[in-house]
Amino acid sequence: MILVIMGPPGAGKGTQASRLAAELGIPQVSTGELLREARRDGSEVGQRAAINMDAGTLVPDEVVMTLIERRLEQQDCGSGAILDGFPRTVAQAVQLDDMLERSGRQVDRVVSISVTEDEIVERILGRLTCGQCGAVYHRTTKPTAREGHCDLCGGLVSSRSDDNEEAVRIRLQTYSNLTAPVLDYYGGAGRLASVDGSGGLDEVFNRVQGAL
Ligand code: AP5
Repeated sequence: MILVIMGPPGAGKGTQASRLAAELGIPQVSTGELLREARRDGSEVGQRAAINMDAGTLVPDEVVMTLIERRLEQQDCGSGAILDGFPRTVAQAVQLDDMLERSGRQVDRVVSISVTEDEIVERILGRLTCGQCGAVYHRTTKPTAREGHCDLCGGLVSSRSDDNEEAVRIRLQTYSNLTAPVLDYYGGAGRLASVDGSGGLDEVFNRVQGAL
């Protein structure tokens, strides 16, 4: 089963995808996290992607397609995956359909999470991310048990380098220009469900499950 979780920056895609992954027993595949991993490894791909990521613009389609293709070929994705933050352009969505078709698979369902711009800014500016394992927290809605340290691996948590007002403004603009059209692509094919992302984590999770 291939599920896609879409939504603007800070809508809660990663948070909900991670819960769904635990619930369904299939991996969460986040292109943002794959790119951050490449940065942590100091690879050339990661260093080049860093320029786009910190500016709030998209990493070129061909870079992301290579990363996602390699990831979906891995054994743990054999029964499916929850795609988080991908596809983000119509070109990526078309290439994903082609790639899946070659292995006899398809995108089964797309869930789009919507949240107001004020809530997005509040969520992003309060977010803390573990520099070691990528786990996500929030200063008020999901604090770490020990201040400054990840509950899962003990690594240091901090704000992401693209979680500042200037980059968030550009990420929102990029979403509306390049990613929102992907919703029309999936809506036309009858695969799309929209979910209200306001309210608490459990409330939104119940809505996401309902949409599936
Ligand atoms: P990516 O990492 O995908 O960032 P994003 O899309 O901007 O989304 P975020 O990770 O900011 O937010 P989210 O929706 O996952 O929210 P979260 O669950 O963390 O991409 C980063 C960059 O990489 C891009 O800008 C681009 O450069 C590049 N990139 C990635 N994919 C690409 C692609 N396919 N093509 C090209 N370039 C690509 O939640 C946010 C906060 O809110 C957290 O603190 C959380 O705890 C809190 N929260 C969540 N839900 C709730 C709730 N219901 N109530 C209260 N708090 C909540």
